[in-house]
Amino acid sequence: MRSELPNSMPPELEKDDETVYKTLMAERRRAPRNRTLVLSDSDRERCAQALRRIDSPVSLEEILDSTICQDLFVVLPLLPSGAFDLIVADPPYNLTKAFNGTTFKQTDLDQYETWLSAWLPEMHRLLKPTGSIYVCADWRSSTAIHRVLLQYFVVRNRISWEREKGRGAKTNWKNNMEDIWFATSSNDYTFHVDDVKLKRRVIAPYTDGDGQPKDWEDTEEGKYRITHPSNIWTDLTVPFWSMPENTDHPTQKPEKLLARIVLASSNPGDMIFDPFLGSGTTSVVAKKLQRHYVGVEADRDFCCLAQRRLELAATDQSIQGYAGGVFWDRNTLADQSSSRRRDCPSCVSHAALFDDLQIAR
Ligand SMILES: C[S@@+](CC[C@H](N)C(=O)[O-])C[C@H]1O[C@@H](n2cnc3c(N)ncnc32)[C@H](O)[C@@H]1O
Repeated sequence: MRSELPNSMPPELEKDDETVYKTLMAERRRAPRNRTLVLSDSDRERCAQALRRIDSPVSLEEILDSTICQDLFVVLPLLPSGAFDLIVADPPYNLTKAFNGTTFKQTDLDQYETWLSAWLPEMHRLLKPTGSIYVCADWRSSTAIHRVLLQYFVVRNRISWEREKGRGAKTNWKNNMEDIWFATSSNDYTFHVDDVKLKRRVIAPYTDGDGQPKDWEDTEEGKYRITHPSNIWTDLTVPFWSMPENTDHPTQKPEKLLARIVLASSNPGDMIFDPFLGSGTTSVVAKKLQRHYVGVEADRDFCCLAQRRLELAATDQSIQGYAGGVFWDRNTLADQSSSRRRDCPSCVSHAALFDDLQIAR
């Protein structure tokens, strides 16, 4: 008999037990509307065969569009210099956190900085002189990352994004944001602001003297304004059980977040590298947006998840929350679908059928 599982973490589990909870979920049967990607034995076997291991220096061509399943510190010295246009690094934060079998242990800020210094400078060697790097952080690790970046890169911005996940704390402010540091190798770099505009609902639809909309459009989908993105991103949703992109990886980033970075800071055909690939989000988004990718991940199960997502990306290029060349606010599913139907009647994919936030709450 199919057992109904709760779709949020039971209250008796603390936030740090999320990994344990996700594992339990994976081992049991899931609720019918749960769309979390789970690998069958044959998926795992097939995907494992596609993974790469390297034991001597390689050229970019040899590792193009691949997932390298090894410890980053073994792989780094073997990778080619000046090969990548964009690096997205989402390292373990300075928290005690289990990644499948391996636990990253929280340490003091100085030791975390020493750990960062063992790989971040190498990112400068891997980047082209025109390249950009984004490094994810939580509030605890953010200052250390900033300090190390400053030594090797031109630091251009700190983006903060609203995570909107997890329960409130009783003796502290609920932790609801993360940072992403944006830095470049030099002052000559790619940035396409027009490719990452936001489509936001107009709350106060002011008109000019002739009664015409001021800076907004009255479209079939409603009153919307196309705006420049700032360094505060509030339209994202951490992947959850009803989203087809969701996996059992404990710290998976949303495809929409990666899409914004990839579109702003690379061109079609560019080379993108992720040293802590996890469930593969960077490579998957790179593939969906016609870029090349290389990812390194130590855990074999996560590597297989990444490979499976890459297989699926061959036939489904949709990115939830990004449609018609713009990034939509949360909870605008109906409007996005209607816009998609109008622009391309055959393009409405199943991913678009699940809206960002309201199902999760
Ligand atoms: C924060 S997660 C990345 C999540 C990823 N952005 C995603 O969307 O799924 C960090 C990942 O780094 C991996 N990792 C940690 N240390 C590593 C190492 N030394 N070499 C390779 N991978 C490592 C962990 O297994 C984990 O999957």
